[in-house]
Amino acid sequence: MTSDVPVSGLLCRQLFDRDSFTYTYLLIDTATSEGALIDPVMEQYDRDLQYIEELGIELLYVIETHAHADHITSAGILRQNTGAKIVFSKAAGIDAIDIALEDGDELKLGNYTIKALATPGHTSGCMSYYIDGRVFTGDTLLIRGCGRTDFQQGDAQMLYDNVSNKLFTLPDDTLVYPAHDYKGRTCSSIGEEKRWNPRLGGEQSASDFIETMNNLNLDMPKKINEAVPANVSVGVDYNPRRYVYDDFSMSDLHSSWRQLGANEVIVDNRRAVEFSEGHVPGSINIPLGSESIHVEQLKAYDKVYMYCRSGRRAQTALTNLSLIGLNNLVCVSHTGMPNWIAAGYPIEL
Ligand SMILES: [Fe+2]
Repeated sequence: MTSDVPVSGLLCRQLFDRDSFTYTYLLIDTATSEGALIDPVMEQYDRDLQYIEELGIELLYVIETHAHADHITSAGILRQNTGAKIVFSKAAGIDAIDIALEDGDELKLGNYTIKALATPGHTSGCMSYYIDGRVFTGDTLLIRGCGRTDFQQGDAQMLYDNVSNKLFTLPDDTLVYPAHDYKGRTCSSIGEEKRWNPRLGGEQSASDFIETMNNLNLDMPKKINEAVPANVSVGVDYNPRRYVYDDFSMSDLHSSWRQLGANEVIVDNRRAVEFSEGHVPGSINIPLGSESIHVEQLKAYDKVYMYCRSGRRAQTALTNLSLIGLNNLVCVSHTGMPNWIAAGYPIEL
């Protein structure tokens, strides 16, 4: 550990993704080595995993402040490789997660408690998280700004109310850690933002705020088509597990394979070497971890069946793809290629 790691207490590491200007936060109770990552970015997966390994962290949670439009999360692959649970606001409507939080819910992190503060407005599923004098505000409250409210069921009035009632009621010395900053600022405080935030602080009224937000005329985030294929899909109408059946087996896959529709595909999520040793005839190989670069290709199908060896990698790939908006997925769970072979179904090499 480096010298700035406290002997005991809560360590908060602020990490940055230059491409999306996203802050990822690594929280560790140094007494127990239990940790949580807030808003990890796919491109920074290796960096984050290195921290986890070098600091000997037992990663309990991957926590999302909301479904991001500007980057792809590494939550699914972190879960696969660390056993961490994916935490999201229940209101985000994303089922492929482990813990769905509502306002006031708490998570234990070692000797600390993470408290969920529902702060919808930037999106309908935004959640802020308070721990030990710090609040992680996502895009709800930025330093001297706030997230836009013009897509993903954003609502300016709601954002104003939640900042006023849930964030600005925290003690003034609470440190504010946002999901982004575009000007090199890293941290603020509730007292500072109450006074100096030009949109939400000072004497700004709700109607001033709504007028400002309605006249921003911002471009869409550059990655929105990749990160959130339908940018308003993460909300009440969104159900990424629409085609996920808990008991979908390899024999079910066999039935689907025999009558595979013209616009359907079977994906093998194992490694290339496993795929080359025998796979479901006609299936394509997209090893776990590479699924995000096939989003456009997979989105074009009416239905995508996924399998692997035991079902775990296929489920993780489904999670990763669901979190970025695909809802045409069917995943074989609990079984896989050995069951296909044992059943005597045809194999392609
Ligand atoms: Fe956002």
